[in-house]
Amino acid sequence: MIENRKLEHLNICLEKNVRSHHNYWDDVIIKHETIPSVDLEDISLEVEFLGRKLNAPIIVDAMTGGHKVAKKINENIAKACSELGIGMAVGSQRAAIEKRELEDTYSVIKNYEMPLRLGNLGAPQVTLEYGEVEIRKAIEMIDAHALELHFNYLQEAIQPEGETVVKGLKEKLKKLAEKYKLIAKETGAGISRKAGEFFKSAGFVALDVSGVSGTSFAAVEYYRGGELGETFWDWGIPSPYSLLILRELEIPLIGSGGISNGLDVARALALGATLAGISREILPYAFKSSDAVINKLERIVKELKITIFLSGATNVKEMRNVSYVIRGELREWLKQ
Ligand SMILES: Cc1cc2nc3c(=O)[nH]c(=O)nc-3n(C[C@H](O)[C@H](O)[C@H](O)COP(=O)(O)O)c2cc1C
Repeated sequence: MIENRKLEHLNICLEKNVRSHHNYWDDVIIKHETIPSVDLEDISLEVEFLGRKLNAPIIVDAMTGGHKVAKKINENIAKACSELGIGMAVGSQRAAIEKRELEDTYSVIKNYEMPLRLGNLGAPQVTLEYGEVEIRKAIEMIDAHALELHFNYLQEAIQPEGETVVKGLKEKLKKLAEKYKLIAKETGAGISRKAGEFFKSAGFVALDVSGVSGTSFAAVEYYRGGELGETFWDWGIPSPYSLLILRELEIPLIGSGGISNGLDVARALALGATLAGISREILPYAFKSSDAVINKLERIVKELKITIFLSGATNVKEMRNVSYVIRGELREWLKQ
């Protein structure tokens, strides 16, 4: 059952170490500017994404839905995102597409005003069975401003019940992207340049890179008993590298995969992202309460503000042009 699998994912992500072994964000050093350009309190974090105005360049990215615990988690996140004026994506809506009575575990977020609500479905399901009807259902279910379509072929390939058929996928995507606002999203293995070019030409409105540095779904599957997960634990494109190779395509980017704090958010902006997406780092707080999520996100926002201040920028846009140094393993990637 999908519901059980999703609950298992949540518990594993909460209790086990599911991070990739290297955090590539630590290889990005933003240069210090001795004399800041404006007062700390005058740093502006406002940003526009897909025509929506957010108070800070952050979304809590796709995690859950489809069972009782998930409803509470989505509600806690929604309340916090509404309070802070930032965005949120629900987890895969497949469970509710297949069982209507689970819809409220996602649609609960509609009770909270927020600037950006993103739906979520899987590309593997689109290849095999879903079409316009399901896309529309997912969008209407949460009144979404756009729909994330996740590409999780690493996870599908190593889990016993995985869906690994891709025949006909691109043609289907081209048709759907003409009609609906779709964001192509990875789930921890990063978006390649070739895929980025395809998504852009097909008419996707944004890319959510979710690369290597944070949650590894190979690791999650390993803890569910899939021994192949150990072999593929670190498979994929580093999140910051993914941003750098997609940057010149000039399509809005969400920097995600391993974002742990406001400094990482600033690093993502410096490398070309418009927003940063945070998932697992928020999960333990979302289990507790909306206040816990608010406190965590407020800290991240404060860290982001300080980083912008200390790098001599005055707002999110300027953060895209600050100087940085790339060292270590990320540098190796860029050399090849
Ligand atoms: C518990 C959990 C459930 C997730 N479920 C989904 C999902 O349903 N759909 C999706 O696109 N991504 C899903 N993801 C992936 C995240 O959205 C994100 O891309 C990935 O975890 C990397 O970000 P992180 O390092 O901040 O966790 C999930 C992540 C976690 C931790």
